[in-house]
Amino acid sequence: MKILITGGAGFIGSNFVRYTIGRYDDEVVVLDKLSYAGNLENLRAFEGHPRYRFIQGDIADAETVRVAMRGADAVVNFAAESHVDRSILDPSPFVRTDVIGAYVLLEAARHDSVARFVHVSTDEVYGEVLSDSVPEHAPLRPRSPYAASKAGGELLVSAYHVTYGLPALITRGSNTFGPYQYPEKLIPVVVTEALDRQPIPVYGDGRQVRDWLYVEDHCAGIDTVLRNGEPGQAYNIGGGNEQCNIDVVERILGALGRPDCPVRHILDRPGHDGRYSVDSSKLLALGWKPTRQFAEALEATVRWYVDNESWWRPMKQRPEYIDYFQRNYQERLAATSP
Ligand code: NAD
Ligand code: DAU
Repeated sequence: MKILITGGAGFIGSNFVRYTIGRYDDEVVVLDKLSYAGNLENLRAFEGHPRYRFIQGDIADAETVRVAMRGADAVVNFAAESHVDRSILDPSPFVRTDVIGAYVLLEAARHDSVARFVHVSTDEVYGEVLSDSVPEHAPLRPRSPYAASKAGGELLVSAYHVTYGLPALITRGSNTFGPYQYPEKLIPVVVTEALDRQPIPVYGDGRQVRDWLYVEDHCAGIDTVLRNGEPGQAYNIGGGNEQCNIDVVERILGALGRPDCPVRHILDRPGHDGRYSVDSSKLLALGWKPTRQFAEALEATVRWYVDNESWWRPMKQRPEYIDYFQRNYQERLAATSP
């Protein structure tokens, strides 16, 4: 099978390329714009591989997509603006990539009669889930510009299935962690700031709950949906590891041998969702289950960042990153009493 993997130079996408090439004889074409979050280092191991090809380009550009999708049996769409805090600072790239980009991919897929279209979405489309766990038929109540853009993309995917019969499927994964995650998300922020002996920024009281899913388990879930899912269906992919942010921070500092590293509680994220929790029974019934224990996988991830400073250090030194870091944290720090 020939698979077009969009956003394959990002965190989960590059892990999915590794997962796929390592397990199957499939041919993989990666289409990625190389935004601030895309990094060819994540795919360096596949350069020159006979079943791998990289194309730099934007999923919102119809001609680029037409060329990249040529001959593809399946599309797996990871390409997105993925960070909630950035969507609060500026929603426009989110609408462009996560909604319009999804539309451009869908148009190309229906004209090419692609046999399988998997749209990688998120548990954030359900909004805050303060009790129980939500199944796939729960209403979508996104609360951040990121989550709303992802919900918009999803609604187009469902409409293309109903209207044009496109064999499209949706995945809604929970908070993912592991190697190659850009250092703007909680776990790599905590590890890299602690290594730099900086105070750890925790939004509000740090009691918000996330359900952590190891990246390889997330890839296995997406792969199960790609190969065995039913077109027209959405599938939750939850880690089954609900943790308060402050507990995650403390575990990381423990793993680094720096339990006394100062934690700074700063002004909360506007509209901060207090908890996400999905019911993954539908995917479990297809034979998937998460395999990694949270404590062990978190320690392995921390070790990866310690051992791969040459991967994250250059990113944190880029003017773009320094600018984002200041815009995101400066105001919050200023509004917080020391
Ligand atoms: P990421 O930000 O690390 O990677 C996104 C990739 O998409 C980058 O390589 C970037 O260059 C590329 N990209 C961005 N805009 C593009 C465009 N217009 N055209 C082509 N490529 C473009 O994101 P991630 O954490 O790997 O997330 C991948 C997908 O999984 C996203 O759709 C995200 O919504 C979803 N998701 C993420 C998580 C998580 O915890 N990280 C959980 C559930 C779902
Ligand atoms: O739930 C799936 C989603 O998980 C994905 O769709 C998103 O792409 C991904 O970014 C992630 O969203 P979150 O907003 O939950 O992840 P983030 O790592 O930004 O934050 C996790 C929690 O930690 C959240 O409650 C906010 C908090 N936080 C985050 C940062 C970056 C802090 O307290 N301090 C921080 O510096």
